[in-house]
Formats: sequence, C-alpha cells, structure tokens
Amino acid sequence: MIEAEYISIDPGMRQYSNLQAIGDVMFGLQLGKIVVSKNSKFPVGERIRGWYGWRTHTIIDPNKWEKHDFISEKPRVLPNFGELSPSIGLGILGMPGETAYFGLLEICQPKIGETLVVSGAAGAVGSHVGQIGKIKGLNVIGIAGSDEKCKWLVDELGFDYAINYKTQDLSEALKNAAPNGIDCYFDNVGGEISSAVIFQMNDFGRISVCGSISCYNSEPQISPMAKSIQFPIVCKQLKMEGFLVHRWENRYNESFVDNYKWIQENKLILRETIYQGFENTFQAFIGTLNGDNIGKTIVKLDS
Ligand SMILES: NC(=O)c1ccc[n+]([C@@H]2O[C@H](COP(=O)([O-])OP(=O)(O)OC[C@H]3O[C@@H](n4cnc5c(N)ncnc54)[C@H](OP(=O)(O)O)[C@@H]3O)[C@@H](O)[C@H]2O)c1
Repeated sequence: MIEAEYISIDPGMRQYSNLQAIGDVMFGLQLGKIVVSKNSKFPVGERIRGWYGWRTHTIIDPNKWEKHDFISEKPRVLPNFGELSPSIGLGILGMPGETAYFGLLEICQPKIGETLVVSGAAGAVGSHVGQIGKIKGLNVIGIAGSDEKCKWLVDELGFDYAINYKTQDLSEALKNAAPNGIDCYFDNVGGEISSAVIFQMNDFGRISVCGSISCYNSEPQISPMAKSIQFPIVCKQLKMEGFLVHRWENRYNESFVDNYKWIQENKLILRETIYQGFENTFQAFIGTLNGDNIGKTIVKLDS
C-alpha cells in the first residue's frame, strides 16, 4: 500500500483524460511512501513513483503493473536525494527530466554553437531543455507567456534570449534573436507558435516534437489550424520527429546520472510551483494549463 506524498501535474493528462469515463480515477504520476508491504523488493518506508492517479492510497502488485495506452512505466523505488526535496523525483530527476534530456539530445542532436529555440520554455520540460542547451554550448532562445517568466529564463537560467509570445510579434522577435536562423526546435506547444519558428529554421534543422499544449483543450479532429509547414520542411530539408519518453525507459539511468551531476554543479536550477493539499489538485491542473506555473507543478499532500 502506497500513501501519496506528491502528485505530479502534467499537461498531457488533459489528453489522456479524453480516454477516461466519468467515475474513473484521474490519470497521473505520483510519488508516495510504502506503508504496508508483502513484497521484499518494495519494503515499508521506501519511496515509490508510479501512475496511480489522483488518489491518496493505492494498493498495487508491482509484478502486475497496469500498462495504459501511452503510459509505460513499472513502479520504481526512488533513491534518497539527500538535501533535495523528494518531489524532484517527479521533476528534474523524474519523467519531465527524462523527456528534456532524451528529447533534446537524441532527436535534435545539437552541436556546439548552434541555435536552439524552446517553446513552453518556463515550464518543467522547457526550462530543463534550455538549461541543457546552455550546458551543451548552444545559443538558447525561450518562448514563454509572461514577462516574469522571460526575465527568469534570462536572468536566472542563463537563456540568451526570451520572447513573450503574448505581447511580442513572435516572427519579428525571432529574427532579432536568431539573425542567422534556427538549427534546433524543441516543440512543447504546437500551433501557430511552432509555425513561426519552423519558418525561420536553417537547412538540415531538427525539430523534436514533445507536445502540443496549444491544442489539448480541443477535439483532435478540430485542433486549431496552423500554417502549412511542408514548404520549409522540404526546402530546408528539415527533420521533424515526435516521441514518447518511455522510448528510452531502459536508458533512464543515463539521464538521472547527468541531471543529478548538473544539479550538484549548479548548472541545473530547479523550480517548483507547489499547491498544498489533495483538494487543490484540480486547481493545480487547471492553473498549469492556463500558464500559472513556473517550473514543475506539484501537489504536496498534507501528511
Ligand atoms: N512526449 C512526451 O513523452 C512528453 C513527456 C512529458 C511532457 N510532454 C509534453 O511537454 C510539454 C510541456 O510539459 P510540462 O510538464 O513541462 O508543462 P509546463 O510547461 O510546465 O506547463 C504547461 C505550460 O504550457 C504553456 N501553455 C499553456 N497553453 C499554451 C498555449 N496555448 N500556447 C503556448 N503555451 C501554452 C503555459 O505556459 P505559458 O505561460 O508560457 O503559456 C504552461 O505553463 C507538454 O506539451 C507535455 O504534454 C511530453
């Protein structure tokens, strides 16, 4: 039996919820403590991460974990993170961290000196992607939805440039920020923002399609229209590839080792937006879809 300590808020849950029926337990990753156990590999007191949804207590048989359509992760016992909050196991050292690490490095294959654009840049995945970009010697441009977020990206995370897509002309701002064009695009949002970026990419640019949050509240058949992008994809010979992070499930340790090292070296700065109390889980979810969060959104349950 697991007692939840932290519930992870991930925008993709909005899409998965379309697969659910009224009365189902809402999807979601959580981190909890084992409070009763009949399995010696999962002893009482250990912390465990899994897709147990929005509930405070869950009884599982780790040998018979449920595999959903998009979600594939065995229950895993987490290491002790020392001084760091255990909730980091849902953020930089968890699924968003694995997403940022493999989605950028494996799909964009960035090279020193190249220009990387990240949309959804002040969120859990985006802020991590941009910081890895700086670690790898890239010129990093973030796109986010408020001046406060843009200031944080540049002043504290070391992004070279940040654009507020709600108040600035995105195409103009991109021309100023990347006068020599864009080599890599890490796409969290889709829609018009992504069209604007893709139209300014360089020959043989790479696009890692991580998410499409601008469309999550729409029916898939009537998603918001974006400009046709075939022209730049053909003429600039771009490579565009979508992914689900569990593609690299058997390599998660690589991202863990590097991300943990970069935290220790102060090269990765983590930030959480924390909602207190199980009863605020729904508000945390809606708030994140509305852009209220900076960094990773977490619900901390009352002990
Ligand atoms: N492929 C995978 O395996 C995988 C795994 C994890 C996450 N993801 C995806 O990665 C993306 C980021 O996830 P996250 O957990 O890091 O979320 P997040 O960025 O922390 O939170 C969502 C952010 O999206 C922005 N947003 C909301 N509506 C928008 C719109 N219409 N246009 C542009 N931006 C909008 C908001 O920031 P602003 O204030 O900037 O608008 C909000 O803070 C999501 O699309 C998620 O589904 C994919």
